[in-house]
Amino acid sequence: ALISLRQMLDHAAEHGYGVPAFNVNNLEQMRAIMEAARQTDSPVIVQASAGARKYAGAPFLRHLILAAIEEFPEIPVVMHQDHGTSPAVCQRSIQLGFSSVMMDGSLQEDGKTPASYDYNIDVTRRAVDMAHACGVSVEGELGCLGSLETGMAGEEDGVGAEGVLSHDQLLTDPEEAADFVQKTKVDALAIACGTSHGAYKFTRPPTGDILAIDRIKEIHARIPGTHLVMHGSSSVPQEWLAVINEFGGEIPETYGVPVEQICEGIKHGVRKVNIDTDLRLASTGATRRFLAQNPSEFDPRKFYKVAMDAMKDICIARYEAFGTAGNA
Ligand code: G3H
Ligand code: 13P
Ligand code: NA
Ligand code: ZN
Repeated sequence: ALISLRQMLDHAAEHGYGVPAFNVNNLEQMRAIMEAARQTDSPVIVQASAGARKYAGAPFLRHLILAAIEEFPEIPVVMHQDHGTSPAVCQRSIQLGFSSVMMDGSLQEDGKTPASYDYNIDVTRRAVDMAHACGVSVEGELGCLGSLETGMAGEEDGVGAEGVLSHDQLLTDPEEAADFVQKTKVDALAIACGTSHGAYKFTRPPTGDILAIDRIKEIHARIPGTHLVMHGSSSVPQEWLAVINEFGGEIPETYGVPVEQICEGIKHGVRKVNIDTDLRLASTGATRRFLAQNPSEFDPRKFYKVAMDAMKDICIARYEAFGTAGNA
């Protein structure tokens, strides 16, 4: 059944677990997420980015998610719009039937230029007014995602700040977070703690100086009733990097957010954990290996199937690690 983000995260907070929010663009990702959820009895957040709408088209995305809800009626599903760049974008998603939208006012409408605090409050409050009138939840964002090593936002095209960010922009301020939530009435707040989008988050396994879990604890202590969201939460599995590189890929050394660190965040108010890159890496690795090992195969369903299974394994592992399993 389709439910709102607020409804799902209230339950998660009450029972102390986190919910992975997986990005979807196609059938294989959607099936992997739902089959893993059914197998582990987990509630689901699926999110569609602007890139997903461009790739699949809004009607296909909408019906893909509605089809999942129809085929898996016992599973609570939040249909969430990821990184909306304006209240107008959020409005279109609400009209499409999304039960939750992200108004990312940390950046201006171009999705690249860091925005002022007042701009962020203004667009987020407008999105909340509109969404709440329709029973739809809103996720806001305060602080800019980016690396504390380099000051750069991640690699994803179309999402993330351009240029070098300052230390202040890269870590959400707890006092400002309290003011922001009070003024905007968001249902969930995405915070910046040193993670970034894409596969190139850290040049070494992260320690506290470049992955600021302590900052999450400080924010949670200040606003314990607010559901926190961690973007850029892929763990960048080293085993999948090795498979990709063994079978013709070229991905340089890189590290993601260790699952144990995410779990530490979940103990301190993180309820929604955004993951896209890990499913991309798993499906690419599985596809490369299959095609290399089966050079005469040409039925795409054969390699879509191994990609789907690889993504499903990641989903199961996250549902279990975050305590989502058993809560559908
Ligand atoms: O927020 C970033 C997500 O990974 C979406 O990426 O815009 O390439 O679909 P995308
Ligand atoms: P990753 O690139 O770490 O998977 O993060 C995805 C994300 O935050 C989508 O909003
Ligand atoms: Na989001
Ligand atoms: Zn994100």
